[in-house]
Amino acid sequence: MKKIIVTATALVAAAAFTLTGCSSERGGTGTDPAAEEASGFEEGATIGVALPDKTSENWVLAGKLFTDGLEAAGFKADVQYAPASNTVAEQQNQIQAMVTGGAKVIIIGAKDGKQLSTQVEAARDAGATVIAYDRLIENTDAVDYYVAFDNFRVGELQGEALLEGLAERAGHEAPYNIELFSGSPDDANSKVFFDGAMSVLQPKIDDGTLNVVSGQTEIAQTATEGWKAENAQRRMDSLLTASYSSETLDGVLSPNDTLARAIITSVQGAGKPVPVVTGQDSEVESVKSIMEGIQYSTINKDTTLLVEQSIKMVGQLQKGDEVDVNDTESYDNGVKIVDSYLLDPVIVTKENAEEAYANVPSLLEIVKSYQ
Ligand code: BGC
Repeated sequence: MKKIIVTATALVAAAAFTLTGCSSERGGTGTDPAAEEASGFEEGATIGVALPDKTSENWVLAGKLFTDGLEAAGFKADVQYAPASNTVAEQQNQIQAMVTGGAKVIIIGAKDGKQLSTQVEAARDAGATVIAYDRLIENTDAVDYYVAFDNFRVGELQGEALLEGLAERAGHEAPYNIELFSGSPDDANSKVFFDGAMSVLQPKIDDGTLNVVSGQTEIAQTATEGWKAENAQRRMDSLLTASYSSETLDGVLSPNDTLARAIITSVQGAGKPVPVVTGQDSEVESVKSIMEGIQYSTINKDTTLLVEQSIKMVGQLQKGDEVDVNDTESYDNGVKIVDSYLLDPVIVTKENAEEAYANVPSLLEIVKSYQ
């Protein structure tokens, strides 16, 4: 999966595409091929939602929001999580069962986006629409839509926050010593987050502002299998032993909050000062840590908005209406560019937490309790 960097040529091509009336963009007058095929389906139909294992709080919340939201919209919700063991095979079976059970739309948060082609192709053959949720499904043309926060932007925001945090907190001028972590290799998002962050950090590594003391800058060297905290903690332990007996660690790029806290635990366990650590997901413990001045940043990707958008798409499909998308050029799954609805992620530090969580009452309450 590769996030395409939009070139001038691509923009011209996209503009021409729009002018010919073939756009499926919001408010466009053209017809989207997927929408054209769909002539709607019965009210009250079953909608399948296949979610991965619960590697962060957002996945836990999504299940509940999908169940409640789909039922409130008059659908029958079949929401399944892949268990932590045998996750890929179980998710494949769950999706196959949704197809057999006659689900009209199948929304998938993939455990491993490269291993679902057989199931999504079966869904297409049965006339169901497939929406990739949060994580892209790769190497198949049987994925109709993608709904997600813009993951490349998440990475860019993390890279920018790391630079800002270093300037604020390192207590000295550049060069700064940093280490890089990425997510699970089976999650298509991991590379997109990393590429987004490296688009900001690589030039600063090249000009000597940043020094990755371990030398581990390739995504494969930085990966965290299964997004598991213990794997990140173990790698941080080894990095500290191998590279930081006499050097100070100033910052760590962490792709999400669960791993950020594991990295911080490792550094604290080694009796060293906590570096600037980034995150993502606005998990409760990380928001507290940010307000206490420990973790530096997180990202607000409001799960409520993402689920609402997905359910709105289901409603449009049910009526046979054109489906809202706002990006038709960025997310290439290896076979096609998937029509996407992308939401904007928001960077959160102690400074802007109150404003950033203005519409998230549970987190706003936490922030206010520190004021
Ligand atoms: C999600 C992140 C999450 C990670 C681990 C990613 O695909 O986009 O929000 O932190 O999975 O659950």
